Amino acid sequence: MTETAVQTAERKLYIESYGCAMNFSDSEIIASIMGEHGFATTQDEFEADVIFLNTCAIRDNAEQRIRERLKHLRSNKKQNRDLIIGVLGCMAERLKDKLLEEEKLVDVVAGPDSYRELPKLVAEVDEGGRAINVLLSREETYGDLNPVRLNSNGVTAFISIMRGCDNMCSFCVVPFTRGRERSRDPESILREARELAAAGYKEITLLGQNVDSYLWFGGGPKKEFKNLTEEEKASSVDFADLLEMTALAVPELRIRYSTSHPRDITEKVVHTMAKYKNVCNYIHLPAQSGNSRVLEVMNRNYTREWYMDKVSMIRNILPDCGISCDIIAGFCTETEEEHKDTLSLMAWSRFDFSYMYKYSERPGTPAAKKLTDDVHEDVKGRRLQEIIALQNEVSKAKNQEYIGKVVEVLVEAESKRSTEEWMGRNDQNVVTVFPKEHYQKGDLVKVLVESASTTTLRGKAVV
Ligand code: 5AD
Ligand code: SF4
Repeated sequence: MTETAVQTAERKLYIESYGCAMNFSDSEIIASIMGEHGFATTQDEFEADVIFLNTCAIRDNAEQRIRERLKHLRSNKKQNRDLIIGVLGCMAERLKDKLLEEEKLVDVVAGPDSYRELPKLVAEVDEGGRAINVLLSREETYGDLNPVRLNSNGVTAFISIMRGCDNMCSFCVVPFTRGRERSRDPESILREARELAAAGYKEITLLGQNVDSYLWFGGGPKKEFKNLTEEEKASSVDFADLLEMTALAVPELRIRYSTSHPRDITEKVVHTMAKYKNVCNYIHLPAQSGNSRVLEVMNRNYTREWYMDKVSMIRNILPDCGISCDIIAGFCTETEEEHKDTLSLMAWSRFDFSYMYKYSERPGTPAAKKLTDDVHEDVKGRRLQEIIALQNEVSKAKNQEYIGKVVEVLVEAESKRSTEEWMGRNDQNVVTVFPKEHYQKGDLVKVLVESASTTTLRGKAVV
């Protein structure tokens, strides 16, 4: 969660973002749209005329957090009777008008494709109503807008390159809340990257639910390459092309991207990473499970062996590439043996780090409709603990391999623990902390690693 920046203008907007990077990026688009209609963003919720919660629906606990936050906002509304409260993003899209029925203090409900309508929705509330727009679009990419960088460290920024997801993993609500997949015009992506470089940013992360299926052929809903006309094929841009174009357009910036799909990641992408020094050696490659039967029930469209082949392919082309993973513990019908397959896949892959979750059934998803959430809560919890314990062990061992080596760190911010130290990330995305000395935010610093924990490398700058 975070609050947002900038002051003045007639009315004030406070945005709180929850969930994934895509939501944080969307909040910057929302700030831009509202900015054009006389709203300046504020970091102080108590001076706001409008409060937007940009929400996440991926797991039940994400939604519970937002319900709790709404309860607290009652007192804001008591103090300021004209205060407008909006729920935006994935939870808004999932619950639609039910949200207006259930949460009486909510005035605006807007889904991820209706942000251009927000000024109009707020105007409707000004007129005394409550307003909702949850239409999903097959075309909207907000490509023409200039995001207002919120809560920015001035060093790293997100660029959204596509929206939606067509994958239909059986556990996932995203295809329902963010709609069909569509890619953004590469020219608008490059323009945004150049503007960030000109504004002094040092690192960009290209964002999409499944970046490997990025394909630009003139706009509109996703098509497979094989279904393009000859003319469209000739001028089409795939993700590897886009990565190359970006690396060339902003050679002074570090480039990252997220998220890759094991089914779709190509050698071409990994070769492009190897070719350009400014593309960071780091891939987020969610496996979800290490067992082929479970993967099939998850509708992930790959097997354990396929996943392992992809990891080998990456390590062959880019031996020092950082790889991180998402894992779900206790998906429907998962047996103890199948859970052990996840552990053995993790031990074999040696992920640098993982995001690990207990399965949470989401209403309306294929899993909720067709499968039974039959792994007992205690078993899920225990499996998750085993997964976390193994990942911690691997992360620590991998981080300790850096001791005595020099890593290149982009300084992002002051370390949380000490005002005397900088915090940044190395090429492989591992958090690294070192004494500030004369270095500045935004510097790329060579750091000799002296010690390492599960999450952090520590060292000192070397010339
Ligand atoms: N339950 C638990 N985790 C989930 N994820 C997506 N849907 C669910 C769910 N229903 C996880 C996946 C995905 C990450 C963003 O969230 O691991 O990669
Ligand atoms: Fe959800 Fe799967 Fe799409 Fe990721 S790829 S957003 S897990 S449906």
